[in-house]
Formats: sequence, structure tokens, C-alpha cells
Amino acid sequence: MFFWTLQIPIYREVQSKLSAANFVASGIKHGVNDGLTVAIIGATGAVGQEFLRLFDERNFPVSSLRLLASERSVGKTAKFRGKEYLIEEATEDAFDGVDVAFFSAGASRSRKLVPAALKAGALVIDNSSAYRTDPNIPLVVPEVNADAIGPEDRLIAVPNCSAIILLTAVSPLRQLGTVDRLIVSTYQSASGGGAGMMRLLEAETRAVLSGEDLPESSLNHRYAFNLFSHNTPIDDDGYNEEESKVIFESRKILSMPSLKINVTCVRVPVLRAHTESVTVEFDGSAPSIEEVRKVLGSSAGVRVVDDRAANRFPTPLDASGQGDVLVGRIRQDLSNPNAICMLVSGDQLLKGAALNAVQIAELVLAR
Ligand code: A2P
Repeated sequence: MFFWTLQIPIYREVQSKLSAANFVASGIKHGVNDGLTVAIIGATGAVGQEFLRLFDERNFPVSSLRLLASERSVGKTAKFRGKEYLIEEATEDAFDGVDVAFFSAGASRSRKLVPAALKAGALVIDNSSAYRTDPNIPLVVPEVNADAIGPEDRLIAVPNCSAIILLTAVSPLRQLGTVDRLIVSTYQSASGGGAGMMRLLEAETRAVLSGEDLPESSLNHRYAFNLFSHNTPIDDDGYNEEESKVIFESRKILSMPSLKINVTCVRVPVLRAHTESVTVEFDGSAPSIEEVRKVLGSSAGVRVVDDRAANRFPTPLDASGQGDVLVGRIRQDLSNPNAICMLVSGDQLLKGAALNAVQIAELVLAR
């Protein structure tokens, strides 16, 4: 039984859903008031590092921390609340006594280690794609489908970063009409490829500017001063894996299995935060721009940045380090009276990953 007295910020919508839910705490051994034993799997990664900052910022009830990564990182340290923690190897034996495990070390690592964490009794929040398509595992953006988490759920999947950012902005518009179709083009940052891709972009940029040889790269394109179709495998229909994830996951999260949605994913030479151009087509006349601005302006997790006079709209730099998804360039689609267009920017490492995961944990712990 939990007694939730800590002041953890929970979004408005989520709070109202919580009061309606009658959750039963299961599996977790310590009360929230005692603090929890928390593990980060992938603690040395770009998302892993954000968890530490968020725990501090949101006063997440951590009494004991286990930082896990590959054997390459064993012996390194990371600082949290003034204390130095040793990085340990992520193995099946690492979960004894863990209350909450945040996984962010890739799908194969999750497939191997999530069962051990569950067996040890932990609540597991998985940032990888390993369990997202499983119909029995909730795939959750708290502002959109908090009610997908059932009372017994102890494994919850965090959606793909582009899907989270898209749906945080699009879902509130369902108050204004039935969304019939989405057309999305992404401008995705290096952070989506992890710390290694961010380092590669920096190193390539430096090399190009100084006329030196390019560093070794696993990409088949130069990244600096370039952009390229998302570097995931292409299927028989010509869609890359990232596009297929956004399509499948949007349908699952919105509970709209036949939602019409077309997605093009492109990687751009931006370090952090994804941007997306989104056309939302309604079943019938589109709402007015004023209505859209009003709804988005009062929606959890969204900030409207839409100053036509100043030509000031969402940018990945402005979105970096922000929990909110920025939405602007809100305009009528002049080629279709049923559609509106907008530009969305969200921090891929925060709302697109670590923040969404921590929000999910807060939801479950509050039950
Ligand atoms: P390590 O730093 O030891 O390689 P990113 O997405 O930024 O690339 O981060 C990936 C995270 O996943 C890192 O913390 C990385 O640890 C971790 N990781 C990668 N491979 C493994 C593995 N085989 N076992 C455990 N953790 C891993």
C-alpha cells in the first residue's frame, strides 16, 4: 500500500484520470515514503543521463540507485544528489531488491533482462521497442492514454520518441472533431541515435570545418551539413522501421486501429530535439485556427509558440531541455478545408524518452 505524500508533479489530465482509477499496488516492496530502489539500465547513455536529472528535478523518491550498463562501463561513476555511484554490469542478477527499473539500453537488452527484472518484483518501464507491439503490454503517453495502464500492469512500454511528440500535440485536437488522417514528416536529431550519434555529428562537423579527414562512421552518409532518410531498415513497401513504428504505435496509443497515417522520417544535423511537420485531417470541416490554439494552449504537455508577426515558431533549440512539446505554425491547409497544419518540436531525450518514462512511473506509484 502506498501513501503518496511527496509533491511529484503530475499533469492535470493525468491527475483527473488517477482519481477515477482504483489501482492496487503490486509487486513493489518499499513504500514510496521510504524511498525506492531504482535501477537505470543504460545509465551511461544519452537517455540514461537524463533520468538522473529528472529524478532530482521532480523529487522522484529514490532512496537507493543502481546504475547499470555494458561491461565496458564497469568501474565508471556517475553523480546523483551529491553522491558518486559506480556503474555496474547489467546482468540478470542485478535486479534483486529493485522496485522500479527504467530500461534504456536497446531492444535486445530489454528482451534479455526485462524478464529478470519482473521476476525480481520490479515495476519495469521500458524505453525500447521490445514490447511495444505486444497487445498485452500498455504503450503509454500519460497525457494521451494513462487509462491504458491496468491495475496489475508491471511492465509498461514507452513509445517511439517521434510518436510521443506527435501524439502529445495531436491528441488534444480530438476534442474538436474526429481525426481521420495524419500526414507527418520528421526532422529528427542525432540524440535519437544515442550518445554515439551525437558525438559523431559533433566530430564530423569539426572535421569538415577544419578540413580534416572524417571520423569513422557506421552511417552510409556524411551527417554533418547533410540530412538523410532515417537510418533504419526499409521494408518491402519502401517504409523504414522508424516510419512503421510511428504508424503502428500511433494507432495503438490512440486506440484507432484504422487511423489513416502516412509518415516520412528524416534525420537532420541537429543535436537534440525532434521537429515534425504535421497535417491533421478531420472527418468533416477542420476547426478554426483560434479553436486549435485555444485547445492546445490549455493542454497538458504542450506549449503554443505561434507568433506570425515575429516569425517565431517551434525550433529544436528552443525545445531542447524543455518538458513541453512546442507547437506552432498552426494554419489551415489551403488545399483541403478539412485539414490543419502545424510544426511541432519536442526534446527527444525528455518527453520523447526519459520524461515520458518517469511520468509513467509516477502514475503507477500514485495508484
Ligand atoms: P555502455 O555505455 O556501457 O555501452 P545510447 O542510446 O546513448 O547509445 O546508450 C545506450 C546505453 O545502453 C548505454 O548506457 C550503454 O552502455 C547501454 N548498453 C549498450 N549495450 C549494452 C549491453 N550489452 N549491456 C548493457 N548495457 C548496454
